[in-house]
Amino acid sequence: MVLHVVLVILSLSPLLEAQNPEHANITGTAITNATLIWLSGKWFYIGSALRNPEFKQAAQKIQADYFYFTPNLTDDTILVQEYQTTEDRCVFNSSKLEVQRENGTLSKFGESQHSCGAFPPAEEAAEYVGHLKVSMKHRGFMLAFAPEDKNNWGLSFYANKTDIAPELLEEFLKAVKSLGMDESEIIYADWKKDMCSQQQKQREPERKKTEEGP
Ligand SMILES: *[C@@H]1O[C@H](CO)[C@@H](O)[C@H](O)[C@H]1NC(C)=O
Ligand SMILES: *[C@@H]1O[C@H](CO)[C@@H](O)[C@H](O)[C@H]1NC(C)=O
Ligand SMILES: *[C@@H]1O[C@H](CO)[C@@H](O)[C@H](O)[C@H]1NC(C)=O
Ligand SMILES: *[C@@H]1O[C@H](CO)[C@@H](O)[C@H](O)[C@H]1NC(C)=O
Ligand SMILES: *[C@@H]1O[C@H](CO)[C@@H](O)[C@H](O)[C@H]1NC(C)=O
Ligand SMILES: *[C@@H]1O[C@H](CO)[C@@H](O)[C@H](O)[C@H]1NC(C)=O
Repeated sequence: MVLHVVLVILSLSPLLEAQNPEHANITGTAITNATLIWLSGKWFYIGSALRNPEFKQAAQKIQADYFYFTPNLTDDTILVQEYQTTEDRCVFNSSKLEVQRENGTLSKFGESQHSCGAFPPAEEAAEYVGHLKVSMKHRGFMLAFAPEDKNNWGLSFYANKTDIAPELLEEFLKAVKSLGMDESEIIYADWKKDMCSQQQKQREPERKKTEEGP
């Protein structure tokens, strides 16, 4: 049952919009090496719609957030180096996500209280998973949380730039609606408030060099 609902949520087919999602006919997307390689690099947190009051509160504190994904294809983890602006300050943190390839999910590694770009803090550690849905074409992805639990479900959106393509935004909005949530429940990042980009440029010229190659 749980798996079934998850699969439904992962589908962003327009056909589903107005229907009861339980009648949908979709299969989940497994995570492959190609997916992980595609996920490598810099991502911007665009926004989220979260029902769980605690996570929602955490998301409301995020003014801006971007991060670097470094997947390890051997041990199925992703290193996340994150630059979050909260209370007008830049906070850097790094954490690990675990990859469940067959299930198409990412979960928090260990007992982290830290929320990764609205990947909720993992108090119930391994219990909390995000179902990955990528949009290769527009270079964005989303994570669906607790899709089986109406009172706690949520979605977070990420893209490779802050001014996201209208088509990608449309996909995100469809996903929110297919979960039975309203557009008005989305909390967006405010890039005018980003305190990290400037700071990172000053502090970490090495990273830039590494990324651009020798
Ligand atoms: C349901 O999915 C299966 C497998 O992808 C496909 O063969 C079938 O046509 C789909 N049915 C409907 C009603 O879309
Ligand atoms: C994925 O990549 C790892 C590391 O390169 C490799 O060991 C593994 O065989 C690959 N898996 C598949 C299914 O290609
Ligand atoms: C990836 O994980 C394996 C197994 O834990 C480890 O040996 C290897 O050093 C890791 N690779 C990187 C680049 O961190
Ligand atoms: C994949 O999902 C199934 C069904 O929800 C679950 O029983 C299993 O533990 C999950 N596998 C991993 C590696 O998380
Ligand atoms: C960074 O993350 C670690 C572990 O997830 C956490 O204990 C620590 O409080 C975080 N630091 C900041 C500044 O958020
Ligand atoms: C983001 O992805 C789009 C679509 O693939 C691409 O056209 C664009 O150059 C990328 N932007 C950045 C900053 O990487």
